[in-house]
Amino acid sequence: MNVLVTGGAGYIGSHTVRALQAAGHRVVVLDSLETGAREALLGTPLAVGDIADSELVRQLCRDHAIQGLIHFAAYKSVGESMQYPTRYFRNNVAGTSALVEAAAHEGVQRVVFSSSCSVYGTPAQMPAAESAPIQPESVYAETKAMSEQVLRWMHATHGVRSVSLRYFNAAGASLDNAIGEDWSNAANLIPLVMKATLGRQGPVQVFGADYPTPDGTCIRDYIHVDDLADAHVRALQYLFDGGATTALNVGTGTGSSVLDVIRTTERVSGRPVPYDLVGRRQGDPVTVFADPTLVRATLGWTPQHGLDTIIESAWRWHSTHIDGYPSRRGSDG
Ligand code: WQD
Repeated sequence: MNVLVTGGAGYIGSHTVRALQAAGHRVVVLDSLETGAREALLGTPLAVGDIADSELVRQLCRDHAIQGLIHFAAYKSVGESMQYPTRYFRNNVAGTSALVEAAAHEGVQRVVFSSSCSVYGTPAQMPAAESAPIQPESVYAETKAMSEQVLRWMHATHGVRSVSLRYFNAAGASLDNAIGEDWSNAANLIPLVMKATLGRQGPVQVFGADYPTPDGTCIRDYIHVDDLADAHVRALQYLFDGGATTALNVGTGTGSSVLDVIRTTERVSGRPVPYDLVGRRQGDPVTVFADPTLVRATLGWTPQHGLDTIIESAWRWHSTHIDGYPSRRGSDG
């Protein structure tokens, strides 16, 4: 199939582009390169532009006879979204609306959307199932929930079918070390642990060690980025096989604590991880991990990698790409 991938020069996008190509699809990428890295595309055709540029989107859909859309392009910093809410609503929600409308005009009726488990806010029950209430606790999460609604209404009104994949904590790097996460604007735990271990920043700040968990630190569901990429390829195939619009949690179902991540990194790297135990971060749920029952039943997807492989691949990538992608150098946020 001919697939348009927005945000394909980003972390999860670039890993998904490779997985699509390995599955025999032809891919073209639309990316503004605001945060993406051209090098991560390994030569995949790239149009540099904005998802809200309807003329550009329609032209790309016509020129490449696009049959499916995978939409990653979005601003994704929870903290930044609370500082600049309208920027996030404009880019993430209005941008998604313009993109899907333009693609639909050119007959694209299948969309896989990059959503987030953060639409659940602090889930009342663990593991988190798709039936959990949608109660975003940040502007970023709200923009993901609203974009899912746009897609649901595009199905009801125009027959555009979609799968919204609600990611848990994406981490790690491609197993062949060809691409990985750009840590220039890293705010997530695992790239920060790598930076601290490699001496590229000060000690990791562990946000709270007094939680009601076995070791006192928060628990999350870390999922290898290649497993996440595979879920997108399967979701696209599901839509081409006639699958109905749905939303699926994409996580392993296994929780790991902050200290689990630190201890695993020490074992894998053979180095101490510099860290300080500090106060809790506002808004952090204590424990979040997925119930993967529905994604397994719907897509036949099961994660192939656990925390060890996530940390090993992240360490291999960052320790051999200490300055990240050349095009992103000097862009430390
Ligand atoms: C993980 C854990 C922190 C940094 C992310 C994305 C969100 C969504 C879900 C995709 C928490 C702790 C972190 C640090 C720390 N993904 N931590 N020190 O908050 O679970 O959410 O995954 O949409 O968009 O943000 O990820 O990596 O920030 O935190 O102690 O310096 O690590 O308290 O328990 P989070 P995170």
